[in-house]
Amino acid sequence: GRVRQRLSDEGRAARCRTIAELRAAAKRSVPRPIFDYADGAAWDEVTARRNISAFEDVTLHPKALTDVSEIDLRTSVLGGEIALPIIAAPTGLTGLQHPEGEMAIARAAHAAGTITTLSTMASCTIEEVAAASDGRRWFQLYVMSDRGLVDSLLARAAEHGYEALMLTVDVQVAGVRERDVRNGFSVPPRISLKTLAQGVTHPRWSAGFVAHPRMVPANLGWEGSATATLASAVNRSFDPTVTWDDLADLRSRWKGPVIVKGVMRADDALRCVEHGADAIVVSNHGGRQLDGAAAAIEALPAIADAVSGRAEVYLDSGIRRGTDIVKALALGARAVLIGRALMYGLGAAGEAGARRAFSILEAELRVALALAGYPRAAEIGRDAVS
Ligand code: FNR
Repeated sequence: GRVRQRLSDEGRAARCRTIAELRAAAKRSVPRPIFDYADGAAWDEVTARRNISAFEDVTLHPKALTDVSEIDLRTSVLGGEIALPIIAAPTGLTGLQHPEGEMAIARAAHAAGTITTLSTMASCTIEEVAAASDGRRWFQLYVMSDRGLVDSLLARAAEHGYEALMLTVDVQVAGVRERDVRNGFSVPPRISLKTLAQGVTHPRWSAGFVAHPRMVPANLGWEGSATATLASAVNRSFDPTVTWDDLADLRSRWKGPVIVKGVMRADDALRCVEHGADAIVVSNHGGRQLDGAAAAIEALPAIADAVSGRAEVYLDSGIRRGTDIVKALALGARAVLIGRALMYGLGAAGEAGARRAFSILEAELRVALALAGYPRAAEIGRDAVS
């Protein structure tokens, strides 16, 4: 059964040639409320669309007559090399898309030679993901009001070899995702998944998934708690009083590198540097929090200039094409993170689909760098874009 399922997932994944096709396959494959949870964004989804359209507004200026016979995608992040400048973003409740959830994402990221980031809201435990695959792992933290819970998450992450702590700072309160509101999306889902899955094409939904649900965050002791909307659960448990003092406190307690995710202003980026952050992620959470915010790629250049090498700068929000990655690297990012691209892959074809998301972006990035005339991803500069 498992082998047959895998083979058919391989076939499903191989038929998808772009991230857009993975998205279309995911839309056919998983129940609509679960697709919408991953695909949707806040309010009118203006920022989510702008994340993508703003990449179209960046213009490439290809350099002629350079030898591009060897394309080198390697870069170093936080002192270690990765095979390509693409990192798995933290995503909560990944197990809704596929029961192997974050374990499948970790295996796909490690197979690609890069890093996986486990969310505080993950469907798989810190221990399960550590055991699932060997490779670099980061842990993403939301500061919860229950500081004892935060302490235990940090201790478990450190003990299980998560090398860096990524503090997400753009979920002061839950963003309002109207598709979830309309769908009555709750944690755990209130209607049986079999009912939700009516009309869905992927065979996983007929039996296997229902028998092995991963429908609530696995690391927070929420199993068996009452059904709630995701927003109400977030607003009940996340701490809206978090300030720079908490960043300073985490910096002093976490032994490894600290990354701040969700920075959109140069002044905040500088303050992160002053607080000892090793890296920042320029991100608007894929448009899932403050609708109306700038696109991440629009915020990147000023932030990269302000930080000016004193911390590493990464970007996420809107990466769908290899050329998007070229543009982000040219405007000052050392690497990009991908969220939805992996969610679509996982929904469409499990681990094979997540691997496919990496391989599509890698192949596109190789061709784009060659045509742009920059054979080394780590050396592309601001002169390549306007
Ligand atoms: C997210 N994101 C996210 N970020 C975070 O720090 N902790 C989390 O638990 C989650 N959960 C989450 C779930 C889902 C389904 C999505 C789509 C996103 C945000 C994520 O890390 C990243 O910032 C965005 O996904 C980047 O935008 P793209 O690549 O989805 O356009």
